[in-house]
Amino acid sequence: MPSDRLRHLLTLDGLGADRIHALLDAAEALRGAALGGQRLRGVLAGRTVCNLFFENSTRTRSSFQLAAQRLGADVLNFDVSASSVSKGESAQDTLRTLEAMGIAAFVVRHGEDGAVAALAAAARPRTVLVNAGDGRSDHPTQGLLDLLTIRQRKGADFGRLAVLIVGDLRHSRVARSALHGLRQLGCTDLRLCAPPGLLPEPGTLGTCRAGHDLDAMLDGVDVVMALRLQRERMVEGSVPSPAAYFAEYGLDARRLARAKPDAIVMHPGPMNRGVEIADAVADGPQSVVLDQVANGVAVRMAVLAHLLGS
Ligand code: CP
Repeated sequence: MPSDRLRHLLTLDGLGADRIHALLDAAEALRGAALGGQRLRGVLAGRTVCNLFFENSTRTRSSFQLAAQRLGADVLNFDVSASSVSKGESAQDTLRTLEAMGIAAFVVRHGEDGAVAALAAAARPRTVLVNAGDGRSDHPTQGLLDLLTIRQRKGADFGRLAVLIVGDLRHSRVARSALHGLRQLGCTDLRLCAPPGLLPEPGTLGTCRAGHDLDAMLDGVDVVMALRLQRERMVEGSVPSPAAYFAEYGLDARRLARAKPDAIVMHPGPMNRGVEIADAVADGPQSVVLDQVANGVAVRMAVLAHLLGS
């Protein structure tokens, strides 16, 4: 790990392979504590971590809460929907108000691109922010847990892996963070598949093999990551019906047979079963979806310990 400590974690872009692997190593070392419930109370004793989520979440919010508690921190799950945000208070004033109460660590999810970085720029000098997903831009701890899951199953030589991401690439912060991380760890065979309206705008996801023919793009891949259709961010009618989408882009057992026999199947959740992924694949032997969830707690412990630990 580079000797300097990160102030915030806003993106995986530019973090560097050494730091990414070091965070994954730390998460690996914390896995027992993350899943066994053993609390390493000394690490964040006396610290308060605030979950400040302007968008809904199951996995990210719960796992940050568990991660902070297992490291000994107090956790404030700030309920945005029941707060003065509903009276028009801005995100920045909300942050400043909570800072004034002595909170110096915030895990923030927001619907707008760049919103977490803007809050970080406005925060007090000792305040630490973790981006828990902003707009379509970044979801760095999701990227780390995805990389950890791939490394556990496929080893650390990312340069020999073929990775396909299929689905709503245009709106996906999960895909952006995964691609940032995969590139820095040496992965070059990166394939993107989506309907025409859901491919990223040209130039926004870097150099990848992009197309619409899922069968062809699955040939010989080691990792398939299916993405959620983010209807809340779409223009009405920009995607086919759920049934038509599944027929063209749904990951079912017949299609998965085109990948390598030991290929793993990932999905960040929440899954739209029968639309993005068939039940038999989501729950099948190649699925690592619940490994991703489990790794989320360990990765978030590693990130909080790195940013806040003494
Ligand atoms: N993968 C993910 O971010 O899930 P949540 O929206 O449930 O946190």
